[in-house]
Amino acid sequence: MNKIILFIITFCLLVIAACLSHEEPPTEPVLSEQMRQVYSDLLMAKQAMINDEDVQVRRLVEFTRGLPSRESLKSDEFQAELKAFEQMYTEFSALTTQQDLLEKYQAVVQWCISCHERHCPGPLRTIKKLQLD
Ligand code: HEC
Repeated sequence: MNKIILFIITFCLLVIAACLSHEEPPTEPVLSEQMRQVYSDLLMAKQAMINDEDVQVRRLVEFTRGLPSRESLKSDEFQAELKAFEQMYTEFSALTTQQDLLEKYQAVVQWCISCHERHCPGPLRTIKKLQLD
């Protein structure tokens, strides 16, 4: 009888240990989800600029880690452009003076539009709402 109980306890401990040591694989961000977040960040930034308030943008967006929905978006060419855009976006989000931000903001939005015209025209109309008049 004691042996059975000991066996059950040992078994349970092993199961618990196995569960605790099991690490979740890091989940990759999804590219379109990252893009949607950036869109709403920029919409808030635009509103802040219009109201002459301090502009806040999320700092680091690792677009190149983002999981694309189509095989063609894994091409070297597309990934290189995404990388270049990621660098520009990082610089933009680190800017502090409002004048620099304004100029870079226009350039960032222009790039959103340019890439979307070539690779993903669906949300263009929405993205164009980021343009300043
Ligand atoms: C280098 C090219 C490129 C640039 C630059 C780019 N995008 Fe995208 N974006 C894409 C692609 C491609 C997708 C679709 C991703 C997928 O299907 O996996 C996408 C997806 C999106 C989506 C989601 C669409 C949906 O239907 O869910 C939004 C919103 C978006 N982008 C907004 C933006 C904004 C705003 C910017 C500028 C800050 C931007 N994008 C810059 C290529 C780009």
